[in-house]
Amino acid sequence: MILTTPIGIYQELTWVEISKNALVNNIRQFRKLVGEKVLICPCVKANAYGHGLAQTARIFAEAGADWLAVNALYEAKALQKSGIQIPIYIMGHVPLDSLEEAMDFRLVVYDPKTIERLGEIGRPVKIHLKVETGNNRQGVLIENLLDFAQKIQNHKNIELEGLATHFANIEDTTDHSYAELQLRRFHQAIDLLEKAGIHIPIKHCANSAATILFPKTHFQMVRPGIAAYGMWPSKETYVAFAKERADGFELKPAFTWKTKIAQIKKIPSGECVGYGCTYKTTRETRLAILPIGYYDGYDRGVHGAYVLIHGQRVPVRGRVCMNIIMVDVSDISDVKLEDEVVLIGRDGNEEISAELFGNWAGTINYEITTRVNERIERRIV
Ligand SMILES: Cc1ncc(COP(=O)(O)O)c(C=O)c1O
Repeated sequence: MILTTPIGIYQELTWVEISKNALVNNIRQFRKLVGEKVLICPCVKANAYGHGLAQTARIFAEAGADWLAVNALYEAKALQKSGIQIPIYIMGHVPLDSLEEAMDFRLVVYDPKTIERLGEIGRPVKIHLKVETGNNRQGVLIENLLDFAQKIQNHKNIELEGLATHFANIEDTTDHSYAELQLRRFHQAIDLLEKAGIHIPIKHCANSAATILFPKTHFQMVRPGIAAYGMWPSKETYVAFAKERADGFELKPAFTWKTKIAQIKKIPSGECVGYGCTYKTTRETRLAILPIGYYDGYDRGVHGAYVLIHGQRVPVRGRVCMNIIMVDVSDISDVKLEDEVVLIGRDGNEEISAELFGNWAGTINYEITTRVNERIERRIV
């Protein structure tokens, strides 16, 4: 399915190719890792980390994902409309006024007002209680947890199906002591509820890094995001993985962002290129003009960026504009108008990973793929 917006898609100038094989591979890798009994719930929020919501969700479901996680109600509804049959878990806030439309989905709950409203609506609903273990964003403090769970149990229509938490510091470091602390607190929460006779069937806390590194975080369900798309959560996770469990687990990136050359021209030595004249040629230069810019999600803050043309590195010259970038093709002999250009992804032996692009832009791979404009077509290949 092609995503459309009020201004339509823009496929003639730029597009993203999504490798179905890579997405399927990644889900199968997770299945090998967690076994048959643990539910796999890939996160498809943020337009499936930029890969295209509905089409990615369908591929994940076909590849054996058991559930899907989104951030918002509109995403859950879009998946339902696209025919997704497996359970959809909404991890973000659903406004009280919208809860009535959300009863078909699994909801994360951490505020008593949500419980009151769900109770008033009176229709059956399955919820997942989020417990605060140290991330200090969503979540009920452990000292309030029992009271909160008992309030839920006062409502016959509300089924307490899940208990969830989220790690704060598992991918940024090879020292996992904070994650261990959070895990201990999660166990403390489980024990507290169990002792009060409250047994919750689906306990879950593992993002990609936790799922990959620590089987003891798997419980009954895992929620991998970034790694389901074939990207490592961080260098630290990769290093920790290589140290702790180098067991043939292999991720394949699914995302290739492409465009075409819109103009080629020769300019003399000593000419400025682009806004602010930040680059001046030091030789006669053949420039290729590419019809993408920061509006499309090509970060304006990149340093040392290059693109791939005919499998070769071609440096970006001058500032990234709103809809255009300029690259130096002086050293490529047979380049011509409308030749394909790889902005992120592999071309021959060269690869611009989302991680590398993130380094150029001073950010992380997560932000790079999620910010490629949703208006740009995602083509399954
Ligand atoms: C609650 C929750 N679970 C799981 C994930 C997946 O994390 P990752 O992409 O690091 O696997 C996220 C991502 O932000 C999240 O917010």
